[in-house]
Amino acid sequence: IRIYSGSSNTELASEVAKYLGKPELSPIMRKRFSDGEIYVRLEESVRGCSVFLLQSTCYPANDHLIELLLMIDACRRAHASQVTAVLPYYGYARADRLVDPDTKRREALASKLVANMICEAGADRVIVMDIHSPQTCGFFDIPLDHIFASPCLVEYLLKNCPSDMVVVAPDVGGVARARAFAKQLNDAPLAIIDKRREQHNIAKVLNLIGDVRGRTAVLVDDMIDTGGTIAEAAKSLRENGAKRVFAVATHAVFSGAAIERLSSGVFEEVIVTNTIQVPKEKRFPQLRIVNVA
Ligand code: R5P
Repeated sequence: IRIYSGSSNTELASEVAKYLGKPELSPIMRKRFSDGEIYVRLEESVRGCSVFLLQSTCYPANDHLIELLLMIDACRRAHASQVTAVLPYYGYARADRLVDPDTKRREALASKLVANMICEAGADRVIVMDIHSPQTCGFFDIPLDHIFASPCLVEYLLKNCPSDMVVVAPDVGGVARARAFAKQLNDAPLAIIDKRREQHNIAKVLNLIGDVRGRTAVLVDDMIDTGGTIAEAAKSLRENGAKRVFAVATHAVFSGAAIERLSSGVFEEVIVTNTIQVPKEKRFPQLRIVNVA
């Protein structure tokens, strides 16, 4: 087998290679032309090989997506026997449905379009981790494995969090995920936040369902992007008597005002995984990064 990394997350790709007993990633040249176009070249033969291409399509999402597509194409044209696209973080996953046709007309179904592009470029199989909504898996017409970070996150929480936990879903869409976490955390109780998003990237808490008074609240989400959802939720949990608040999410997108919101002192710890490589300047004292490799 050959394991190649795109430029988004070479740290995780190296961890995966190490776990599989490969001392190094397969060599690839990735560069950018002066006009911004992207160039990739595999630096050894892949003829007859099963090739794994690891790329988190974010930060910047578009460049990393194109780079992945070019890598798939290069493998195909170089006679790889099987090409597996491994997307620890799948960008555009939130554009996953054609919502209320009366209020939101003429939107693109970006998540499906990205799936089409990956298939069309020539991938044989796809591996994704904690994708925003499971229906995206059905957008692919090739075999797909959906894997989960929860065993690694639960292991961290059981070792490092007080046992008086109440697991909190930061919105109704996250209830199934939070419930599954609560089960793994020795059947911890569950609370649910009723969140509304009237504009893109602006979250507002309306109600808290459940009792968090005097307990350690553990907010569980698939991703932290601008940090608005989790910060608003934490405020409401404190107002409702939570003793301390932990935030847990698989994907550390960390855009916009995320770092100010997350490091403001509201959170005891913010626990994420390394599906997205967090740059040094975005690492703050309460941040913990769990390795999923
Ligand atoms: C929403 O449904 C997602 O699960 C996350 O809660 C959301 O995308 C986080 O975004 P932000 O951090 O910008 O509020």
